[in-house]
Amino acid sequence: MTSFLSFKKQYIALGMLVFIALFFFNTRPASIQCQVPQLEELPASVASTNSNLPTIYGITPTYARLAQKADLTRLSQTLMLVKNFHWIVIEDAENKTPLVANLLRDSGLKYTQLNIKTEKEKAKKAMASGVEQRNKALEWLRGHLRGLSEEERIGVVYFMDDDNTYALKVFEEMRKINKVGVWPVGIVGGMMVEMPIITNGKVSGFNALWKPFRPFPIDMAGFAVAANLFLEHPEAKFSRKVQSGFQESVILNYFVKKEDLEPLADNCTKVYVWHTRTQKPSISKAGKAMTYNHIEV
Ligand SMILES: *[C@@H]1O[C@H](CO)[C@@H](O)[C@H](O)[C@H]1NC(C)=O
Repeated sequence: MTSFLSFKKQYIALGMLVFIALFFFNTRPASIQCQVPQLEELPASVASTNSNLPTIYGITPTYARLAQKADLTRLSQTLMLVKNFHWIVIEDAENKTPLVANLLRDSGLKYTQLNIKTEKEKAKKAMASGVEQRNKALEWLRGHLRGLSEEERIGVVYFMDDDNTYALKVFEEMRKINKVGVWPVGIVGGMMVEMPIITNGKVSGFNALWKPFRPFPIDMAGFAVAANLFLEHPEAKFSRKVQSGFQESVILNYFVKKEDLEPLADNCTKVYVWHTRTQKPSISKAGKAMTYNHIEV
């Protein structure tokens, strides 16, 4: 009886040792797997999709300058955290550049790279920028949407500058849009915040100080449009023929009246986007004299 008990104890002790050993061998490699490769895998996992969410088409014109890669890097790393996002980047250039191509490819985002050079004469005359680039994106988008089923077509179009600052919440908000959604924009138009004025859950006016006579005195960052409206209004596009600050009104006039705007961000009481501008960097004379063709900056 006693020998049987001690024999059993030995088995229990051995079993516990095996259990502890298994526990260690199981958890250690697993925790290493979780920590190390995750960072490297991030770009692949960012293209995550959820078929229940409307697709957000971000339309971003861009042009070559010293801080271009820095600005695009910062923006792309915000966009990596947005589900069902398709980034349409349009270069103001004769040809697509390797800098933008590399950045988009390495981002792991779902993207479309386009290019169209703004004509010189037009550029001098008009103050508006990005008109040709946004129109080129809309042309591409219409073709893309036509190739999708009605269900797949559900989406939202957002015009994004490459140097603005976007909180992730602004993307959550815009997925609620039926036609056109609006929200406040921080530090723009000479104001701390430019926004629609809401009365009983409807847009009754705007607080803008800069050109308040505009039909829609809001910034490009302060609204998004249901994608299907661009198919219902194939003529909708931006125009070179208007003075600066009127591009938003030009495009919105195709789709809605002020009363139809859908106030988002808690009835326009929250700021989820800021019209930040990147300061133009200054490179010294000596610095300019040094060229680095082998390194992309
Ligand atoms: C917005 O305001 C309207 C009217 O006051 C209210 O019914 C609605 O619940 C509000 N929405 C949000 C998200 O706070």
